[in-house]
Amino acid sequence: MTAAHFSSASAQISLTSPSVEEHTGPVPAHIAIIMDGNGRWAAERKLPRAAGHRKGVKTVRNIAQACASRGVQYLTLFAFSSENWQRPAREVSFLMRLFAGVLRREIQEMNAQGMRLRVVGDLSRFDAHLQQLVQEAEDKTAHNSGMTLTIAANYGGRWDILQAARHIARNRVDEQALLTEADFAQHLALAYAPEPDLFIRTGGEKRLSNFLLWQLAYTELYFTDIFWPDFDAEALEGALASYQQRERRFGRLSG
Ligand code: FPP
Repeated sequence: MTAAHFSSASAQISLTSPSVEEHTGPVPAHIAIIMDGNGRWAAERKLPRAAGHRKGVKTVRNIAQACASRGVQYLTLFAFSSENWQRPAREVSFLMRLFAGVLRREIQEMNAQGMRLRVVGDLSRFDAHLQQLVQEAEDKTAHNSGMTLTIAANYGGRWDILQAARHIARNRVDEQALLTEADFAQHLALAYAPEPDLFIRTGGEKRLSNFLLWQLAYTELYFTDIFWPDFDAEALEGALASYQQRERRFGRLSG
């Protein structure tokens, strides 16, 4: 991997609306996605991994738009896990610049579409400039009423549960009072969203990889071999069609 491979993070995202063949049936209010396969998509084309990440950003743009037009209210994307710091420094720094570029460039378009942006994760490890961009992007879109796009960055499901537990332990006034699941969930990073109805992982692996561990307890899981850069509106329809065929029982009996 050479410096040139990660020299530019100036991915520009196309703003065209995908034409979606609509299926009937309930649309998930909240979809959570692990966007996997950028590197393998690039390797198959003998391109540097950076090219896969850049194409991955275009997919983010298209899938966000497709979800919004299908009536999805919350879309949560795993952009950078706590474990991703172990990648080569050059790739980590490229991903950071890509993220910063998205935050700078996309906000105007997100505002135009009425989308709200949230970023969840331990942001303290990001540099001050990136933290400021996140804050500005969240503030600028906070009053929108359309789909909420959440980017999970330096996020881990165990980190989320632990930070909630620590917060509760620090602020507990009445130690005798019963702590319910609902009380606990209010301290999780995604407290503002309902639990995901549908989880999608692209790229062929069948793992949760420390994503939303608490929140995925009753979520329908969908795995596809398609690499994230190739995951388009049609592939999303495949996931929605699969979701619509499922019977969600939440532990109850059928009927
Ligand atoms: C997984 O592919 C992808 C990532 C670790 C990063 C995801 C980032 C993007 C899609 C672009 C940035 C997005 C935003 C919202 C700023 P991989 O590198 O693990 O692929 P591989 O498993 O094929 O190696």
